[in-house]
Amino acid sequence: MPHSIAVICGSLRENGLSAKLAKAMCIAAGDRLNCRRLPIGDLGLYDADLDKSPPPVWDEFRDKIAGVDGVLFVTPEYNRGIPGALKNAIDIASRPYGHSAWAKKPAAIVSLSPGALGGFGCNHQLRQCCVFLDMPVMQQPEAYVGGLSDSKFGEDGRITDEALAKLVAGIIHAFADWVDLIHAGRDALAPDSSGSSG
Ligand code: FNR
Repeated sequence: MPHSIAVICGSLRENGLSAKLAKAMCIAAGDRLNCRRLPIGDLGLYDADLDKSPPPVWDEFRDKIAGVDGVLFVTPEYNRGIPGALKNAIDIASRPYGHSAWAKKPAAIVSLSPGALGGFGCNHQLRQCCVFLDMPVMQQPEAYVGGLSDSKFGEDGRITDEALAKLVAGIIHAFADWVDLIHAGRDALAPDSSGSSG
């Protein structure tokens, strides 16, 4: 069974570059990962007071994150930082305190931009959040996808630009290896994995 991956886009645009890149990455994963996009646009703003009786949409989102084997972030940067909608979603699933749904989920961060820097600023802000959230983030390859445009995608969602297709295939397969590695390590360390009955 391929590992299940929640794909979270930092832009809410339905047909934006993030949505297109996320879709192309899911296609490129083939049968190595079971990728599913999780929308974050209808969560509402996080308010800790509401956690006494959380909106059902928060419970649902938290449960979905808790239930996956890994998380793939595909995001532009806004003003050199994490787009507000993405940070909001991260905050929501990080609470209530002590019950973060993100903890221990292997993750990859793919930032993008039509510009040259490929969302570097956001990429590293997000890495910083993941440290606190205790998410093992794939270190290499770093994924700053610069110079991205609609013209690099075909109507079937696949990438038509050869260099980009190669880059994306490298990233998603390295992520599949990373998720396998983290879960294999955990399985090996699990108390009942020794074959001994005690
Ligand atoms: C941007 N954009 C942008 N790009 C960049 O490389 N660095 C930046 O700091 C910003 N800042 C920024 C702020 C805001 C509010 C917007 C709306 C946009 C441009 C951004 O990379 C571009 O619009 C992408 O196409 C956004 O991704 P989606 O929506 O196409 O997925």
